[in-house]
Amino acid sequence: MPFPVHFTAFVSGFLSLHALLGPASAADIDLKSFNPEDIISKDVAIIGGGSSGCYSAISLKDKGKSVIVIEKKDRVGGNTETYIDPATGTPVDIGVLVFHNISVVTDYFSRFDVPLTLYEEDTADESAYYDFRSGTELNISFPTLNETAVAFNKYAQFLEEYPNLDNGLFLPDPVPEDLLLPFGEFVDKYDIGASLNTMYELDPAVGNFTTVPTVERIRTMGLSLVEQIATGFLTTAHHNNSEIYSKIQTELLSASSLLLHSEVVLTQRQNDSEGVQLVVNTPEGRKLILAKKLLITIPPKPRLLKNFDLSADETAIFSKFIDVGYYTSIVKNTGLPDDLSVFNYNPDTPYNFPILPAVYNVQTTPVPGLHLAIYGTPRSIESFPLSDEEVKSDIINGIKTLQKANLDKFNQTEPEFVVFSSHTPFYLQVSPDDIKDGFYGRLYALQGLRNTYWTGAAFRGQDSSDLWRYSEEEVLPGLLESL
Ligand SMILES: Cc1cc2nc3c(=O)[nH]c(=O)nc-3n(C[C@H](O)[C@H](O)[C@H](O)COP(=O)(O)OP(=O)(O)OC[C@H]3O[C@@H](n4cnc5c(N)ncnc54)[C@H](O)[C@@H]3O)c2cc1C
Ligand SMILES: *[C@@H]1O[C@H](CO)[C@@H](O)[C@H](O)[C@H]1NC(C)=O
Ligand SMILES: *[C@@H]1O[C@H](CO)[C@@H](O)[C@H](O)[C@H]1NC(C)=O
Ligand SMILES: *[C@@H]1O[C@H](CO)[C@@H](O)[C@H](O)[C@H]1NC(C)=O
Ligand SMILES: *[C@@H]1O[C@H](CO)[C@@H](O)[C@H](O)[C@H]1NC(C)=O
Ligand SMILES: *[C@@H]1O[C@H](CO)[C@@H](O)[C@H](O)[C@H]1NC(C)=O
Ligand SMILES: *[C@@H]1O[C@H](CO)[C@@H](O)[C@H](O)[C@H]1NC(C)=O
Ligand SMILES: *[C@@H]1O[C@H](CO)[C@@H](O)[C@H](O)[C@H]1NC(C)=O
Repeated sequence: MPFPVHFTAFVSGFLSLHALLGPASAADIDLKSFNPEDIISKDVAIIGGGSSGCYSAISLKDKGKSVIVIEKKDRVGGNTETYIDPATGTPVDIGVLVFHNISVVTDYFSRFDVPLTLYEEDTADESAYYDFRSGTELNISFPTLNETAVAFNKYAQFLEEYPNLDNGLFLPDPVPEDLLLPFGEFVDKYDIGASLNTMYELDPAVGNFTTVPTVERIRTMGLSLVEQIATGFLTTAHHNNSEIYSKIQTELLSASSLLLHSEVVLTQRQNDSEGVQLVVNTPEGRKLILAKKLLITIPPKPRLLKNFDLSADETAIFSKFIDVGYYTSIVKNTGLPDDLSVFNYNPDTPYNFPILPAVYNVQTTPVPGLHLAIYGTPRSIESFPLSDEEVKSDIINGIKTLQKANLDKFNQTEPEFVVFSSHTPFYLQVSPDDIKDGFYGRLYALQGLRNTYWTGAAFRGQDSSDLWRYSEEEVLPGLLESL
């Protein structure tokens, strides 16, 4: 089918948009400057070249559709980041680490000839538990493996009662009270406390762990993930999770399907056959993209979508999202032994979780002299008010507190950042009242309106395997049908 948008139709549409926005915001966009070589026509424009944007681009491309991915950074991969130690060439995955052993994952990696293997912790490494506020070592008694397994089994049995939650937040109406309980109360009710420390160490960044609404915990800690806890996760055999993204980047660039270092400055989205029009700033100048459909994968916080002509409805829905701050870093000169991971616990809270904002842990890496430190904040409506500099100094202070309180164990050195990366805003979610009030029904009803489809963590969960399955099974079929 030929592309339906005629440039002249767009120009007249654009002019009315110009009138709507007023000259201030659109004044610097001169339509006549779009020479034919600056106009890109594709079936689907995809915003964000992270986990779900890349997956969707490849899936659509493999189904014969033309795509253009618009990514603001100079690389694709999003939260998948790999530090390559310059001295030894050793890769260290500092973001996404593990995947589920499911066909959507194994097919994707084999398409790019990237081998997977069972993820195994380095058994030579040791773990210790400290209160980072005082530097005191803690003697925490964790549940036995058997107790943990029994608790996860009970949790899985509960999840099996909600098959509609297996691949999205398709909630019954009315929403069952159990799903709205603060997770700590749910845990007490179902007597699954013995699973909590494992859940936390696997996936801590949800804000206060015991008050997160149960369904917001389930959206990542779902059946598929729980099965992996029993059978084992996958990771890349080269321990370099960026490899697949560098192959995707090469493939998309060679198909003229990727704009790096690029951002949308203006959109026109209508729910008619005119498709969508995007004005994008790229390193090669301003481009006009004409696409039949738009797929947005970035966190839908209103301030991040300010250039996307949000409707009043979309703004009202997206304004409900709360999120957490999540940061990862590689630190050298920690004074900690290379084979020691330290976890921040607080003896005064249930399950000993630290009071946020706080360092979650400082873990070993395969490179001698380097540790991986991760940090998180509580939930808030606007990403928690901490600057990157404040987070960095909190991490350094935590490590120095450990050093000073344990002169016999740790060297007194000045920790330094080798890499620091903010993944904020993370884990978008809403309040129990909004969930009860039908938020997720209204969110999902946006699919397809105004020629716009949505995927990404806010729509499914902060887990790549889940996102690929959700995109493939729940979002792309509708998008493909609409083309
Ligand atoms: C430290 C850490 C560890 C994790 N570990 C795992 C793990 O082991 N396994 C797992 O499955 N998941 C893990 N996750 C979860 C992971 O975040 C999600 O699986 C996934 O990355 C979310 O995908 P996404 O497509 O929603 O967003 P992202 O992957 O974050 O992609 C969003 C992309 O959009 C780009 N972007 C943002 N704004 C714009 C804009 N305005 N215009 C254009 N582009 C824009 C970003 O640069 C980014 O590339 C981890 C996350 C973090 C932070
Ligand atoms: C993944 O699961 C399949 C069975 O579905 C199994 O044969 C395979 O060994 C698993 N892979 C790994 C690395 O464990
Ligand atoms: C922790 O408890 C064990 C036994 O209960 C004891 O042997 C050990 O010394 C304690 N360690 C600390 C740091 O208190
Ligand atoms: C836990 O231990 C009990 C008793 O030893 C055993 O019957 C049960 O099968 C175990 N449960 C799991 C899930 O391993
Ligand atoms: C890891 O992957 C990146 C991206 O493809 C590549 O540049 C690098 O050479 C790889 N390193 C190793 C050791 O595999
Ligand atoms: C677009 O869809 C919305 C919601 O269904 C509807 O209210 C609106 O009238 C439609 N607009 C057009 C231009 O069709
Ligand atoms: C502490 O310093 C000593 C002496 O420089 C060194 O041998 C040791 O490896 C260091 N230990 C750690 C944990 O950095
Ligand atoms: C989480 O919130 C509850 C209720 O507000 C509070 O009692 C608890 O101390 C908090 N836990 C942490 C670790 O911050």
